[in-house]
Amino acid sequence: MADHTTKEETSQPKPSERQAVEQPRDILQVRGLRKVYPDGTLAVDDIDFDVKDGDFCVLIGPSGCGKSTTLHSIIGKVTPTKGEILLDDVDITGTPTYERDIGLVFQDFQLFPHLTVENNVRYGLDRVGVEASTKTERVEEMLQLMQLQDVRDRSPEELSAGQKQRVALARSLVLKPKLLLLDEPLGDLDYKMQKRMERELLRIHRELETTFVYVTHDQNQAMRLGDQIVVMNEGQIEQSGTVSEVYNQPATAFVASFVGDSNIFTGQIVDAQDTAATVTVSTAVGEFAVSTANTGVEGDSLVGEQVSFVVRPQHLRLDADSPNSLLCRVLDVISRPGRGTQLLLEAASGEETMEIQLKSESRLDIETETVTVGWDVEDTILLERTSVVSGVDLETDVLGE
Ligand SMILES: Nc1ncnc2c1ncn2[C@@H]1O[C@H](COP(=O)(O)OP(=O)(O)OP(=O)(O)O)[C@@H](O)[C@H]1O
Ligand SMILES: [Mg+2]
Repeated sequence: MADHTTKEETSQPKPSERQAVEQPRDILQVRGLRKVYPDGTLAVDDIDFDVKDGDFCVLIGPSGCGKSTTLHSIIGKVTPTKGEILLDDVDITGTPTYERDIGLVFQDFQLFPHLTVENNVRYGLDRVGVEASTKTERVEEMLQLMQLQDVRDRSPEELSAGQKQRVALARSLVLKPKLLLLDEPLGDLDYKMQKRMERELLRIHRELETTFVYVTHDQNQAMRLGDQIVVMNEGQIEQSGTVSEVYNQPATAFVASFVGDSNIFTGQIVDAQDTAATVTVSTAVGEFAVSTANTGVEGDSLVGEQVSFVVRPQHLRLDADSPNSLLCRVLDVISRPGRGTQLLLEAASGEETMEIQLKSESRLDIETETVTVGWDVEDTILLERTSVVSGVDLETDVLGE
């Protein structure tokens, strides 16, 4: 303990060094990227984002939102209509793909079927003219890192899906690219294998210190893997930030519904309370006290505005005495051994109804047709902007993982 303190104290960086330690440089900068395909489809609509050196960045969004188009523009397989791609501060927008120092792992791996595992891994090195001894050394290093030594002489058709995936990774990483792009590489694997490969990817990312940009439409995978998450919708970026920022401070209803499950209320701010850190929002199903803490704005300046706020299902409880409470009809109860209970509820007031979900760690015995749910003011998240929620069905994931 004493040693630890001493080490920390003596190794305190100076302010200038601290900045360097805390803020690695951006290895990738995507500036005003726009892609309109020849048939007029607007796939990517003026997006900007940066990726820090060594980060595991996850691009997430629904099918057709422009994730692959973005990756393919970064590597040069798609020519942007407008915008720039900078790698390590160098504009590579016009650089041919093979000179970009970027690797790509496809969803279907695209291994060479007529080559052995070892020769698949060696292939890229043969084309860039590396010395024979270095080549052998690097191939061996990769086979070992990916635990492929025992299957080095097999052809791709003799491999499991997980092994193929590791060959695809090895084939890209052997070239030591500055950046590795991965387009839904775990899409075809079963759930257990996906989880195993996620752990493998994290290990490889950590050991090689290469920057990864990883595409998925799976929110759980994004939260397990990403240092940074970029949430895309209809060709645009809704929010970019750390996993915790995107989950705890979603900027829009789209983000709140796509990253984690959410109950989203919409209404008007009718009052700001004493501290101005809490406002009263009048919705179709009642009035609620909502925290403005995450917005950084004084509550009184918001009175009169139309807003949305979020309460995560795990923050609701069956409790009539909470600061916020809501009478609901029970639509469905799902109890799973060891997994707690999920309730699907409907809040009703006059003509309006709204579906509510609640998750409890412990099992709840629900026999009544109506329940009162409650939640704390600090568990409400006021959204910074309202977004058009299209392209995602907010109810789809209600009873999902
Ligand atoms: N070559 C092309 N020509 C015309 N339109 C295209 C082309 N490639 C993609 N698109 C369209 O551009 C939009 C974005 O496609 P993209 O493949 O980038 O989406 P995605 O987010 O990767 O989707 P998914 O999760 O299904 O892979 C979609 O509307 C798609 O139909
Ligand atoms: Mg795609």
